[in-house]
Amino acid sequence: MKALVLSGGAGTRLRPITHTSAKQLVPVANKPVLFYGLESIAAAGITEVGMIVGDTAAEIEEAVGDGSAFGLEVTYIPQERPLGLAHAVLIAREFLADDDFVMYLGDNFIVGGIRDLVEGFRANRPDAQILLTHVPDPRSFGVAELDRAGQVIGLEEKPEHPKSDLALVGVYLFTPVIHEAVRAVKPSWRGELEITHAIQYLIDTRADVRSTVIQGYWKDTGNVDDMLEVNRTVLEGLERRIDGEVDDVSEAVGRVVVEQGARIVNSRIVGPAVIGSGTTVVDSYIGPFTSIAENCRITDSELEFSIVLRDSSLDGVGRIESSLIGRHAEVSPANGLPSAHRLVIGDHSKVQIRS
Ligand code: G1P
Repeated sequence: MKALVLSGGAGTRLRPITHTSAKQLVPVANKPVLFYGLESIAAAGITEVGMIVGDTAAEIEEAVGDGSAFGLEVTYIPQERPLGLAHAVLIAREFLADDDFVMYLGDNFIVGGIRDLVEGFRANRPDAQILLTHVPDPRSFGVAELDRAGQVIGLEEKPEHPKSDLALVGVYLFTPVIHEAVRAVKPSWRGELEITHAIQYLIDTRADVRSTVIQGYWKDTGNVDDMLEVNRTVLEGLERRIDGEVDDVSEAVGRVVVEQGARIVNSRIVGPAVIGSGTTVVDSYIGPFTSIAENCRITDSELEFSIVLRDSSLDGVGRIESSLIGRHAEVSPANGLPSAHRLVIGDHSKVQIRS
């Protein structure tokens, strides 16, 4: 069995972070979201991974390399444009050969991994197996309709009027019958070859398509709110570890990780929170569900339920919550007169000012 990991796409809902960085590399608890997926593929006993890459190929390749750090052998498969998930299967035909495979969307996050799922698929070998989960608003997902017996009878991609609240999770298991289906589908209204349509083709041609409703936690980390939620969930499982310096007047309460080379000075950190190596926190409060990456500087500020990427600084800015701050960003007070906000903001940024 092989794995096909999708790490292309534009990541429009995570702009401006994705103007300069692949969405799959945005860190959760200071580790790229993609790495959790690769680890669960390795844990399921799969070693051969095809990685579909797009505009951000160089960055993904730099982060993942040949895959050996994960116990994987990675083959990169360039996709010239984001033409859809079924298109990704089309261009991976040679790599996949006639093997069964799990297709894993690199920005999806599944707590508990995929080991049991892969084992079940190996044992039963239906033509395809999809994962579903209940979501409050299914309109931005593929949505499944089941009959009374729980059999999938229809799938729709991002329907305006969803027939259920069961969203397709970004992990799919296929036998080689999927290849005929991806060749049969036509581009959707958004110009993509949808895997949802290819699976519908399997259903229509009476292939054995099974579904599992997962109870475990699943998130598509495509937007900031979901990113913060996933970060919260992963931090929940954090174990306390203080490898950096915490001075005598500082306090690190509960499940706090202070990486080696990090420094906490005259500050209070309430876990779960992680402070990356080379980061200094001075005269500040860091509240629960916060991840600060490497080489940041937080001074005279309060930060909670947020993610800060590497090499950024917050200096004397009061309290910040529910925020995602990119790399090499600076947040500081505007001193002097006139009393005004001064902003240098990248394209597609979002700033909410409390006035
Ligand atoms: C894709 C699939 C959709 C699925 C979702 C899961 O959406 O097309 O059916 O529910 O992934 O993350 P996209 O990320 O292309 O919007």
